[in-house]
Amino acid sequence: MTSRPDLEAETTTSAVPASENTAPEELTNTRKVFVRTYGCQMNVYDSERMTDVLAPEGFKATDDMEDADLVILNTCHIREKAAEKVYSELGRIRKVKEARSKSGKEMMVGVAGCVAQAEGEEISRRAPIVDLVVGPQSYHQLPELLSKARQGSKIVETEFDIDAKFNHLSANAEKPVLKRPPSAFLTVQEGCDKFCTFCVVPYTRGAEVSRSVAQIVTEAERMASAGVREVTLLGQNVNAFHGEAQDGTTWGLGKLLRRLSEIDGLDRLRYTTSHPRDMDDDLIDAHRDLKTLMPYLHLPVQSGSDKILKSMNRRHTRDDYFRLIDRIREATPDIALSGDFIVGFPGETDQDFEDTMDLIRRVEYGSAFSFKYSQRPGTPGATMDDQVPEDLKSERLAQLQALVSEQQKAFNASRLGMTCDVLLEKKGRNPGQLVGKSPWLQPVQLDAPESLIGSVQAVEIVEIGPNSLFGRLNAGQDERDDAGAIQAKAG
Ligand code: 5AD
Ligand code: SF4
Repeated sequence: MTSRPDLEAETTTSAVPASENTAPEELTNTRKVFVRTYGCQMNVYDSERMTDVLAPEGFKATDDMEDADLVILNTCHIREKAAEKVYSELGRIRKVKEARSKSGKEMMVGVAGCVAQAEGEEISRRAPIVDLVVGPQSYHQLPELLSKARQGSKIVETEFDIDAKFNHLSANAEKPVLKRPPSAFLTVQEGCDKFCTFCVVPYTRGAEVSRSVAQIVTEAERMASAGVREVTLLGQNVNAFHGEAQDGTTWGLGKLLRRLSEIDGLDRLRYTTSHPRDMDDDLIDAHRDLKTLMPYLHLPVQSGSDKILKSMNRRHTRDDYFRLIDRIREATPDIALSGDFIVGFPGETDQDFEDTMDLIRRVEYGSAFSFKYSQRPGTPGATMDDQVPEDLKSERLAQLQALVSEQQKAFNASRLGMTCDVLLEKKGRNPGQLVGKSPWLQPVQLDAPESLIGSVQAVEIVEIGPNSLFGRLNAGQDERDDAGAIQAKAG
């Protein structure tokens, strides 16, 4: 395992899948939009919402940039060289735009996401081909901003009006429900107030804001009726969720999950990403009580050294983390734990790094994502003394990843012979093959008819591969219970 795939700038989804509000086929004056998504799952969600708001304007998604009337880069700023990568991509897009212009075709270019938020006007100054710079809270205004840009003004919209964005998302509830893939994201919270000293999120995404319970429930119900079987609730600090309910009370994530688990057709719930400080008893109990809440938890700790945790402003100690993990495992013994680690934070000594390795050995992760510390301009860490040399960071990263990879293999191997529920999501690479997900978020490949896509099936794990599990259909319910290997849940 190298790093967290959902956060790698190289991991791009160029075509945004058609979602429930995609323009109906009969729209005549069709224009094409190409969206390239960098970074986290929240960006994937936002890209889908961008194509949704553009659909009534006659835009259809395309995965061919050269064919696009509008190109949007939905960018990520979490780690190094993000802005530079955007500028070099804009250099490539300039050539495409020029070629289109020679044949009399227009191509508007927009930069969205966290680099847009962080760089603002600098983007259109350095890359004059950019017509529109739009921060993560302003996507609902895209049609209006686009029409202004078409009249020749350079648009930079980086306001933090998150309520307007959330309200707009909910207004889509009026639109007809079209079919959607079995697994979908749903943003419930944005922004972060934690201010870890290495992180740009509080600056690019702003303060923590939660959507209202009613908005979320409506969106989840729509998803269920559109064929979604698994919903992953998203937020930069998702377990800090504190949404207002209709009776004026404030709900935490545990209570929200309980409510969502009542929705017919939603077989599975997940959430990401959580902070240890916000892992309250109600959420831990929800893992114990809710059959629909999958036994997987991504709970980044970043470092195992108290000194580094303090300097990172993580607001907890390694012992707090151990105690928390004990409580979680007591409630859900078979939970797969995942985490994020940063090596080479300023001041990290060999002993601090050893403390991190020790923490990993004690916790035993099912998977984890790890990164070399990168100085982010404007964050306190960037100007701290004792920056760690790159080669030492690389050495530590390799050691840490070797340990995590051993733990991941052991966790995967422990599933051999088990029968577990698998949500079948899509066709596999080979004919007759489907790919799904285990309760512990492992990909599972198996032979099964296409008609089963979108259903949860009992699958026996018969082989363990390096990146996925291989399974066999048709274990009966009794067998599953006998194996005693189904999700460790009381409910
Ligand atoms: N350097 C390295 N890794 C970082 N992350 C966030 N900021 C930085 C940085 N400046 C990692 C953290 C976080 C994940 C999303 O990205 O591990 O949990
Ligand atoms: Fe960044 Fe997460 Fe820390 Fe918030 S809690 S500042 S998103 S690392």
